[in-house]
Amino acid sequence: MGARVLVVGSVNVDTTHYVERLPGPGETVLARRTLVALGGKGANQAVAATRFGAEVRFVGAVGADASGRFALDELHRLGVGVDEVRLVDGVVTGAAAITVDAAAENTIVVAPGANATVGLDDVKTLDLGVGAVLAQGELAAEVVDAVVARAAAASLRVVLNLAPVIGVAPTTLALADPLVVNESEARAVGIAEDAADVDAWLAAAAASVGRLARSVVVTLGRSGAVLAEVDATGTLRATHRPAFDAVAVDTTGAGDCFAGTLAAALAEGLGLDEAVRFAAAAGACAVESPGTVGSYAERAVVLARAAAAAAD
Ligand code: RIB
Ligand code: NA
Repeated sequence: MGARVLVVGSVNVDTTHYVERLPGPGETVLARRTLVALGGKGANQAVAATRFGAEVRFVGAVGADASGRFALDELHRLGVGVDEVRLVDGVVTGAAAITVDAAAENTIVVAPGANATVGLDDVKTLDLGVGAVLAQGELAAEVVDAVVARAAAASLRVVLNLAPVIGVAPTTLALADPLVVNESEARAVGIAEDAADVDAWLAAAAASVGRLARSVVVTLGRSGAVLAEVDATGTLRATHRPAFDAVAVDTTGAGDCFAGTLAAALAEGLGLDEAVRFAAAAGACAVESPGTVGSYAERAVVLARAAAAAAD
């Protein structure tokens, strides 16, 4: 406990429509329910890390509008340190339009708004008194590059969730420890051109350690996750973690829950394997209820879920 995490990332206000099925081109469908809530991959991950017990500082920007104040209030209410979030005049707060169907499939459109104003000045004088730094792909690539370079220069652990995939410098990927991606992102960054099964993903992750990133985690949805790293003895280790059983209602932000929990666990000093286990347990809890941050479980619940599965 008491781990400290710095998250540099995006803040959105999500409008999520729960529909029977996703509309096709030119089609109008009625929502069964609509939820307006804090979102954005950065904000979601910050909340997830907080839920797992970390002390989290967030760097980002929102518009000086009602949405921006709502997002800031939510972050603060959920325990995230917001002193380094800028309120930008004349720009709207980031927004996402999300649809989720009865089978828990989703579509997401993001309007970056104030997130696009986060620049190098925002990260020039970062206070780096933390155990881990966490960034994602919803800010300009040059900002992510600068954050990662500064964190690594200070010998901090860098967790990079390249969602979505943006054109960060190869040196940024090389410093990621771990680089966290899902299957399509893994293909886009060159972890694998084509990996048909878990064994292929294991091999691809292992082959990416040192070549692409310091360590690699690929999340595989219902197939769990693979992780690969060079351990303390200098041995290359690749491991598969099966998924926890879960009945998915809404998977939106489950990847963010995974990444935020992972960063918090690593900042505590846990090994990558154990951190992935807790991250997967947190992700399983998150898919079982609607929304993003509102569905993230507290530390005790995540630990209990991880322990129950281990005892099976
Ligand atoms: O990963 C889920 C998030 O992606 C949503 O909260 C939405 O805001 C988009 O950033
Ligand atoms: Na959820």
